[in-house]
Amino acid sequence: QEDQFKKVISHAKEYGYIFPSSEIYDGLSAVYDYGQKGVELKKNIREYWWKAMVQMHENIVGLDSAIFMHPTTWKASGHVDAFNDPLIDNKDSKKRYRADVLVEDHTAKIEAKIEKEVTKAAKRFGDAFDKDQFMATNPRVLRYQEEINTILKRLGSSLEKEDLADVKALIEELGIADPETGSKNWTDVKQFNLMFGTKLGASADSAMDLYLRPETAQGIFVNFLNVQKSGRMKIPFGIAQTGKAFRNEIVARQFIFRMREFEQMEMQFFIKPGTQKEWYDYWKEMRLKWHLSLGMGADNYRYHDHEKLAHYADAAADIEFKFPFGFKELEGIHSRTDFDLAKHEEFSGKKLQYFDPEENKSYTPYVLETSIGLDRMFLAVFSNALQEETLENGSTRVVLRIPSVLAPTKVAVLPLVKKDGLPEVARKIVDDLKWDMSVDYDEKDAVGRRYRRQDAAGTPFCITVDHETLEDDTVTLRHRDTMEQKRVKISELRGLISEEISM
Ligand code: GAP
Repeated sequence: QEDQFKKVISHAKEYGYIFPSSEIYDGLSAVYDYGQKGVELKKNIREYWWKAMVQMHENIVGLDSAIFMHPTTWKASGHVDAFNDPLIDNKDSKKRYRADVLVEDHTAKIEAKIEKEVTKAAKRFGDAFDKDQFMATNPRVLRYQEEINTILKRLGSSLEKEDLADVKALIEELGIADPETGSKNWTDVKQFNLMFGTKLGASADSAMDLYLRPETAQGIFVNFLNVQKSGRMKIPFGIAQTGKAFRNEIVARQFIFRMREFEQMEMQFFIKPGTQKEWYDYWKEMRLKWHLSLGMGADNYRYHDHEKLAHYADAAADIEFKFPFGFKELEGIHSRTDFDLAKHEEFSGKKLQYFDPEENKSYTPYVLETSIGLDRMFLAVFSNALQEETLENGSTRVVLRIPSVLAPTKVAVLPLVKKDGLPEVARKIVDDLKWDMSVDYDEKDAVGRRYRRQDAAGTPFCITVDHETLEDDTVTLRHRDTMEQKRVKISELRGLISEEISM
């Protein structure tokens, strides 16, 4: 697993997807830049989300609010007081860790043991193996599961009660050691605020202390009435936005999984109080369907219902994805009640109420939120796509099976040789297709090597122009995943490719 993750990171760099930020200065931890392919993949994921959320829903509209917000926003939202991570230092190594992450990593080890039991049993029982039944009845698995539940429950309730001494006690009882040095000599657990501060204005005394937003959601809440009135929106309705968010994450690791500067895709759905349960279930299901529509394998997703709730939520669940380092949160669905709007009313002194013409009364709407990290989704797509396979002739190929709708480059046009007028025909095909899709032109090296390069770069289609093309206007259309090659008319290319890449 670790090896696979290393391959993901180096492949992302080698093929122009992701570079460490300011690399010539040795990089900046937990900050990354997206290269020529990465920026396209990221844009396509954003568009795929936007289309499903905004374009496909008559009652959801978009917004692009500023990163800087009035500082009182973050007092009202609770982030100044409650947006903390519990940190613990190791006295010997002087390394700092997130206490909850240490405990969660410990439970991941127990999960790995379960996984091992399952693999063993699957081998033993062969075709007759029923995983669900095995998980529900095997005494060892049940014991492990119980152990995980007990640990996480205790962690959750200690954090909720801000009982940091108990979090430390839990770490000691579980015998958790510094992952790098093995030392178990821990300090007390302390809270640490995750927001980045900055200043607005030039002179020292008139400057205003600001925060870089740690979530995009608050920009939606403070604009709730602006959008509702100007768009004449009727409840239930949603406001969606994508944009940068910043968190001073202490545990900077796992590549783009946990970054200090990242992008979120969030939607706040405003509803009538009392209907939150039904909308919560609705959006939980809808969001999973969105993920499944990409065809990245139903087994790679699971829900995790939260017992430990954020300061604003009355119900919350994650959609977890199987990353190379195990199942981890990819997206959150939160029932936020009227917490945010009510707090903004309180702190701003402005009414943020909705007049419901059907009920003939005003109320503060409840909110259902869906929130997904764009970079994290990128990692899910990219890590799941990277595969190495052995072909029939015994050779291996590296292939990046990014879903065609998301692929950065949809098609590469390759003249078989660099003469006899083939490059000119290939260029004409590029010029024709580029109006509708991103196209690469490649004439260097033998065609077999060019195919492999495009496979590894994630390009779903290759078009090869050869001497036959000059006679009958046909080309070879090769598919990345199956490596199947078909002879097709140049005039059919657009239709055939569009069918697979359109969102
Ligand atoms: N508005 C709610 C909110 O921000 P969250 O669970 O803190 O909730 C939502 O974040 C999503 O944002 C997460 O599920 C994750 O995909 C992404 N995310 C959060 N912190 C991140 C980080 N440091 N780096 C990358 N993505 C992050």
